[in-house]
Amino acid sequence: MIFTSFLSLLAIVNVAIADPIRMPLIRKHPRRDGEINLDGIRNIVDEDRMAAQADFVRAKWGFQTLAAKKSKRATVGIPVVNQKQDASYLGQVSIGTPPQNFLVVLDTGSSDLWVASASCSSCDPQTPAFDTSKSSTIKQVTTSSGQAASVTIHYGSGSVAGLVATDTVSMGGFTNTVQGMLVATQLTTGLLDGEAAGILGLAFESLASTQAVPFWQALLNAGQLTNPEFGFWLTREIDNRFAPDNAFGGEFTLGGTNSSLYTGELEFLDVLTTTQPTFWLLEMTSVTVNGKSVTIPTGNSAISAIDTGTTLIGGPSAGVRAIYAAIPGSQALTGQMQGFYAFPCSTDVELTISYGGKSWPINSLDMNLGTVGSGLCLGGIFDLNLGSSVTAGGGNPSWVVGDTFLKNVYSVYRANPPSIGFAQLSAVAGGSG
Ligand SMILES: *[C@@H]1O[C@H](CO)[C@@H](O)[C@H](O)[C@H]1NC(C)=O
Repeated sequence: MIFTSFLSLLAIVNVAIADPIRMPLIRKHPRRDGEINLDGIRNIVDEDRMAAQADFVRAKWGFQTLAAKKSKRATVGIPVVNQKQDASYLGQVSIGTPPQNFLVVLDTGSSDLWVASASCSSCDPQTPAFDTSKSSTIKQVTTSSGQAASVTIHYGSGSVAGLVATDTVSMGGFTNTVQGMLVATQLTTGLLDGEAAGILGLAFESLASTQAVPFWQALLNAGQLTNPEFGFWLTREIDNRFAPDNAFGGEFTLGGTNSSLYTGELEFLDVLTTTQPTFWLLEMTSVTVNGKSVTIPTGNSAISAIDTGTTLIGGPSAGVRAIYAAIPGSQALTGQMQGFYAFPCSTDVELTISYGGKSWPINSLDMNLGTVGSGLCLGGIFDLNLGSSVTAGGGNPSWVVGDTFLKNVYSVYRANPPSIGFAQLSAVAGGSG
């Protein structure tokens, strides 16, 4: 992060406050000698403009807008795209005026929104890009010295850099007219694939490198959501080698849950927080492999980010080693596959994970990523820190629990109180276990 909060505040002031203050609320006719007395007669107020300006300030500062108050608060089911056999799960957002539509990675493991810019030189030519010159509502965010605010966001898999802007962003019928985002002009390779144009961060504001309020939280602050939560049903295509690159991926429910997608109770567990929530964190309390309990690290080494934006499950060396030690015939891989493990393809690995409540099974299909040599198959859990004894600490996750796990449950992310709910998938959603 190269942004200070001081800089950000000034940037916000530049964008949001200057305009309304410059706009005189009531303008009197100037009196000149010899002119007819027009005392008491005033300019006609441009009500549309006035109301829009007021809502602009309300939205920017996190108050409920009049537009949102008038519109019915709602729960909306947004279709998800399953990209390349469960590699990523995407949803459609519209950005700018007129709207440009993009598929972005739905990522509960980060908090920024960014899209590739049409002027991104290091982007893959195939990557769909946002043409800022075609949006009449985009506003550049500037620093206190009047320069364009630039930000670099670092992910486990690469980094992205560009300028910060605000523009109208819509998804599933919800709109934020002043959504902060990064317009990416530099991108490391491999961060995006196929038709994905960027990432929509669904974790908490305090993690955002752009210091923008994440889209979902802005909708919540503006009173647009029926409930302070969103839910995911993510489909499985890993066992379908004829799956198209973009298959049906399930549903992202914004503003509540979709009860037809799960059965039984949603079990909510409080998110681990220090002062403010950051990632969606839970403590991993137990793991079983083929019915037998495995000893996993505790304390900081049990902190797990629940992350729709990560394909697999990554964990601390000792925990990952213990899991594979419970699978007969498994072995650690070397070379470029260091950190991964393989096991005999004839073994069905039945794994369960618990975060202090129920144990949730992972389908053996999700644990098997395909063959990597004679009779050996690649496992869906890998070593995040490659055998080093360095632990994450500082409230950062030691485990990153991605889609390998999340395909097996209906998962709900609740802002207030910060908590995560899991339930068994209904038959409509393919079932669990
Ligand atoms: C809930 O899921 C069902 C089954 O996929 C779907 O038909 C329905 O439209 C969804 N409801 C909402 C509000 O999106």
